[in-house]
Amino acid sequence: MDPVDPPGCSSLDEGLPMSAYSEASVPDQSGKTCLITGANTGIGFEAARVLAGRGARILLGCRSETRARQALERIRALHPAADLVWVPLDLARLPSVEAAARTVALEPRLDVLVNNAGVMLPPKTLTQDGFELQFGVNHLGHFALTGHLLDRLAATPGSRVVHVSSVTHRTGRIDFDDPHAERSYGAMRRYGMSKAANLYFMLELARRCAARGLDVTSLACHPGVTNTELIRTLPRWIQALTPLARPFFNTPEAGALPTLRAATSPEAEPTDYYGPIRRGDRSPSAGRADIAPHVRDERVGRRLWDLSVELTGVSYLTDL
Ligand SMILES: NC(=O)c1ccc[n+]([C@@H]2O[C@H](COP(=O)([O-])OP(=O)(O)OC[C@H]3O[C@@H](n4cnc5c(N)ncnc54)[C@H](OP(=O)(O)O)[C@@H]3O)[C@@H](O)[C@H]2O)c1
Repeated sequence: MDPVDPPGCSSLDEGLPMSAYSEASVPDQSGKTCLITGANTGIGFEAARVLAGRGARILLGCRSETRARQALERIRALHPAADLVWVPLDLARLPSVEAAARTVALEPRLDVLVNNAGVMLPPKTLTQDGFELQFGVNHLGHFALTGHLLDRLAATPGSRVVHVSSVTHRTGRIDFDDPHAERSYGAMRRYGMSKAANLYFMLELARRCAARGLDVTSLACHPGVTNTELIRTLPRWIQALTPLARPFFNTPEAGALPTLRAATSPEAEPTDYYGPIRRGDRSPSAGRADIAPHVRDERVGRRLWDLSVELTGVSYLTDL
């Protein structure tokens, strides 16, 4: 679940009737390879389950071997022939990100990278690299992973990078003066910053791929308010109250539909943003959603890109 559902988060779908998108809409994925970060639970797991069932080879980028293997078993129980591989990946450690990318780069193709893993509203915590945890995992780790894998993506015709953001991006501003929250930390402020960063990154990557003529589609999605384990880092008293609200949340299966549409829809274009259809975000479908205007500021997108290169040491598509 995501705590904020601010005004103006309605989804806009010009192409399809309200109820049109479901798991049955996902086309055959035979021959494709998808890397999904945080695929052991929640939205990432549901996306992995569906894509594996459609014949894709799924690389599950997960930090816990036990949880990854449990996810593999759950998918294989449904789809015994599923082609599944656990790729050890801790987005809070840049050396782990680099090692995961080296493993994935051995694959002959990479059709879809889903930057899904995330943390929400933890007490102030730093990654091993000294980054504030939400900015570090939700944005910087994925920025580094994408950079390491861009050659493999660009060599695969029609490849995509799907960035999983949130309606909270609307409240998000990038704090360039205090990126590691050394002066002040507000958990909600930093979550919004990380989710806005997902969309700034999505748009800037799309611009740079277009300028270079790379056949890589950068696009995004959000799951609305979904019943997952994302609340695990919230204060205990809030976790205790959550069961009361759960009936109003999306199921994880429904929350994964925008991800599935972004990852597989034949009509998807660079910079598309998919979300649940209606305000309240509980409709089990997926359509076009709107991006907050401030996130379309290219100067901020370029500045965030430069900061991300500086912090991660991963430099790519730099000459634009
Ligand atoms: N649920 C919502 O209402 C909602 C709303 C808007 C956006 N989102 C976004 O949706 C995405 C998926 O969240 P979810 O709701 O499915 O949450 P979830 O059930 O908590 O799943 C999060 C996944 O991220 C992984 N992860 C966390 N830290 C990691 C790290 N350092 N390295 C690698 N993996 C890490 C977790 O792995 P472990 O199991 O090992 O911890 C887990 O697999 C997130 O980006 C979130 O911001 C969710």
